[in-house]
Amino acid sequence: MKLTYYGHACFGVEIAGKKLLFDPFISGNDSAKDIEIGSIEADYILLSHGHGDHIADVFSIADSTDALVIGILEVTGWVEKQGYKNCIGMNLGEMSTDFGTVRMVPASHTSSMPDGSYGGNPAGFVIKTDEGNFYYSGDTCLTMDMQLIPRYGKMDFAVMPIGGHFTMNPSDAVIAAEFAQCDRVVGVHYNTWPPIAIDTAEAQKIFKDAGRELLLPAIGETIDL
Ligand code: NI
Ligand code: MN
Repeated sequence: MKLTYYGHACFGVEIAGKKLLFDPFISGNDSAKDIEIGSIEADYILLSHGHGDHIADVFSIADSTDALVIGILEVTGWVEKQGYKNCIGMNLGEMSTDFGTVRMVPASHTSSMPDGSYGGNPAGFVIKTDEGNFYYSGDTCLTMDMQLIPRYGKMDFAVMPIGGHFTMNPSDAVIAAEFAQCDRVVGVHYNTWPPIAIDTAEAQKIFKDAGRELLLPAIGETIDL
């Protein structure tokens, strides 16, 4: 599996021969200004919730890739209403795809669309394929529900927000990694704006002290997982 980080909470995963892109937000992110949006490939775009910092570039990337957009019904319904019809709406639960299964799991956060319309529940994703499994928590605080993740399978890695203020901070995320029984976590949703600025060396130490690894790929970097 290969993961490419596009800044904030946007990342792509190549898995089981497919390209999955999560939470596209690049054009509004100064630190991601070197990312060429038009060069991003995606077979699927998965949206954790409706906030602008997770969906701002969904239309430009969906139009250029014809990707299938997956999200909770209220989010995909809104995307369809704006004119992009290649969507599958689901709800908290599991769905089969041509690369494996997509399970939307609860996230404790809020969700509304950029125009203020209702965004349904925010969510995370558990992706399971023949090549491997991973968990993306989405924007969330630490929740006891994360203890259910290992019941769905062994996660090869997890992607979690670590910026605090709106989501988990590193101390929360290391407990979330324990709940999910996941040794490797890719940290996202940090350092984009002052409220979510963190000391990355301290964050990595928190994970190391707990016997886990916090991976912080540079924006534009691809790592093998
Ligand atoms: Ni959010
Ligand atoms: Mn966010």
